[in-house]
Amino acid sequence: MKSKNLVSIDQCSKDDILRILENAAGFEENPNRTLLEGKVAATLFFEPSTRTRLSFEAAVNRLGGRVIGFQDASTTSSSKGETLKDTILMVSNYADLIIMRHHLEGAARYAAEVSGIPVINAGDGANQHPSQTLLDLYSIRKTQGKLTGLTITIVGDLKYGRTVHSLIVGMSHFNPTFHFVAPDELRMPDEQKNLCDKLDISYTEHTAFTEEIINRTDILYMTRVQRERFTDLEEYERVKNVYILRDKMLRGSRENLRILHPLPRVNEIAYDVDDNPKAYFIQQARNGLFTRQAIICEVLGINS
Ligand code: CP
Repeated sequence: MKSKNLVSIDQCSKDDILRILENAAGFEENPNRTLLEGKVAATLFFEPSTRTRLSFEAAVNRLGGRVIGFQDASTTSSSKGETLKDTILMVSNYADLIIMRHHLEGAARYAAEVSGIPVINAGDGANQHPSQTLLDLYSIRKTQGKLTGLTITIVGDLKYGRTVHSLIVGMSHFNPTFHFVAPDELRMPDEQKNLCDKLDISYTEHTAFTEEIINRTDILYMTRVQRERFTDLEEYERVKNVYILRDKMLRGSRENLRILHPLPRVNEIAYDVDDNPKAYFIQQARNGLFTRQAIICEVLGINS
């Protein structure tokens, strides 16, 4: 990558993506190394997280580095009114790398601009979640044996889903065909559809989630309707359970179909899907560890 930060997936070229996925495969074979000995990573989580924070922290620990940080901003001086800029400048004094999740769109870009050390965006509002996209691409390639020419159906909250927005950009290098399944209130924003139009990527929008769509799909990417992104909770109540994937809906699906979900799930994947060999979301989260090891080494300029 040209930048020492990972703020948005669109700063990664196709070659960057393929190199990071290759390195992630190496970490899957051997995740315990001493590449980060003497380094300190700061995890600044202004929003809740399970997978992203813990897998980044596990990634640093398994590479011999150390972790400082917080998972509850109310225990930090930002609750006394300290600005994000001052927080970042302080942490730059103590650490070699910042991994930050923030509720404001653009917060990661701003942090990267003011920081003296590399910044990895661990999710900024409804905007981007680039490390999730790289682990999604790793999971897609691992399960399909390729990234090119796949049919990907994305279901749920396509308006606020930062993982979805990043996934479209990441997959755009690999000639995908998309199906977007969402209620009218949560349709894919114009920005992502315009990108598909510009790159001549085929997509179809649907409001009904049918077996007919599933049966034409290689990767079924389910997402949660995110209560925390709604200002109108009545609207959330209207759409929260609009699509639920059940095992019986997979009867006619392709042999190679795999079901991904960035997690956490709420109701959108019924528990009877979990035992279906096409369910891949738990392994997908595991792939986050190896992919994040590769990302950390990439931004720190460490050869793995
Ligand atoms: N996928 C994801 O970002 O999960 P967490 O919110 O648990 O980090």
